[in-house]
Amino acid sequence: MKTTIQLLRDHIDKEVRIGAWLANKRSSGKIAFLQLRDGTGFVQGVVVKSEVDDNVWEQAKSITQETSLYVTGSVKKDDRSPTGVELVVTGIEVLHESTDYPITPKEHGTEFLMDNRHLWLRSKRQHAIMRIRNEIIRATYEFFNKEGFVKIDPPILTGSSAEGTTTLFNTKYFDEDAYLSQSGQLYMEAAAMAFGRVFSFGPTFRAEKSKTRRHLIEFWMIEPEMAFVEHDESLEIQEQYVTYMVKSVMENCSIELQTLDRDLEKLQKIKAPFPRISYDDAIELLKKKGFDDIEWGEDFGAPHETAIAESFDKPVFITNYPKNIKAFYMKPDPNRDDVVLCADLIAPEGYGEIIGGSQRIDDLELMKQRYEEHDLTSDAYKWYLELRQYGSVPHSGFGLGLERTVAWISGIEHIRESIPFPRLLNRLYP
Ligand code: 4AD
Ligand code: MG
Repeated sequence: MKTTIQLLRDHIDKEVRIGAWLANKRSSGKIAFLQLRDGTGFVQGVVVKSEVDDNVWEQAKSITQETSLYVTGSVKKDDRSPTGVELVVTGIEVLHESTDYPITPKEHGTEFLMDNRHLWLRSKRQHAIMRIRNEIIRATYEFFNKEGFVKIDPPILTGSSAEGTTTLFNTKYFDEDAYLSQSGQLYMEAAAMAFGRVFSFGPTFRAEKSKTRRHLIEFWMIEPEMAFVEHDESLEIQEQYVTYMVKSVMENCSIELQTLDRDLEKLQKIKAPFPRISYDDAIELLKKKGFDDIEWGEDFGAPHETAIAESFDKPVFITNYPKNIKAFYMKPDPNRDDVVLCADLIAPEGYGEIIGGSQRIDDLELMKQRYEEHDLTSDAYKWYLELRQYGSVPHSGFGLGLERTVAWISGIEHIRESIPFPRLLNRLYP
């Protein structure tokens, strides 16, 4: 019976046939161990010389890495294997022989692996990371559907900037200037006024000249936007969402987490509510931790975020940043004009900011004033102002960076492994 590696457990002691590639191989004079992969998972195939036809044994000895095959065999329970089974091979049919596969079991440098990203994705580690990414996406749709959100897709080609002009990707839209979307937020605000609670999930672009382990040029963002929701209520949704994602990955990706050697104890602690610390208190905390030069009004860099996160074993919300270092659309704190109703959610273990969110300005006059201050005079912003003209309501939203979240939950060192084909500074290949 034809099946997949993922489903082998349903066929214990039965004869099966799978399509697979040879990931790796070990053999002695009498027995060969074939590491087989088919995309759904990895399994060990055992070929015993004395129990198979000569030609099968010869095949097993000669097949090369990444050769594609049909393999027949019987499924045996095996408690030592992460999948709980192994395949006792009785037949091997070669579909296509692979020669000189560039990624061998030895250590390779990062640049080499990145140049071979189209092949590197086949490795066990990359497979585990992409499965976790897939589970986070699945859990995201499940969570927001359960909570009554409507998925709305904002455009990618835009005439306006949502997050400042320094990181805009310019392009031409026939004769007009256009930009690749930095964030769908402005459009999601329009959508929230039409559908109440909405979320988007799509690619976003930042022409950021940063070469760090947290920055991509093209990354995917989940952006919920909610009418009649104040800042504090938005924080509650955020912590529930993050809790839900982590729980889903722990439940459905245990093999993958094991492959990556993820410290599960750390993930088990990720349960709402998350701590909140104001920007003011964060400055005090940083001073106590030896950051003597930091002054009120400065933005936090990676070392600051990591130092703040170290004081907590859950993600932490840093709230109420100074207005001058945040985006034009954020609503001022009603008790204090110099800070805004916003929060960044900082992941533990040095992974940095995974969510940026805020309550939005809903007052037409104040938004007009911000337009002046930020020089948003172009007609491209006219429609956004009109959202405040016809039945404006308090509303809040946030953006979660998918890749930083994947990197954190997977426990990997660098964001480049959290997306199938990373777009980095100086890398557009493959
Ligand atoms: O904090 P940001 O810039 O917020 C916004 O774009 C808002 N308009 C979102 C909203 O309220 N709807 O970006 C949100 C998140 C960050 O917290 C981070 O996780 C991720 O997007 N992010 C990046 N991820 C990878 N590479 C980059 N260059 C990123 N820039 C932001
Ligand atoms: Mg941010």
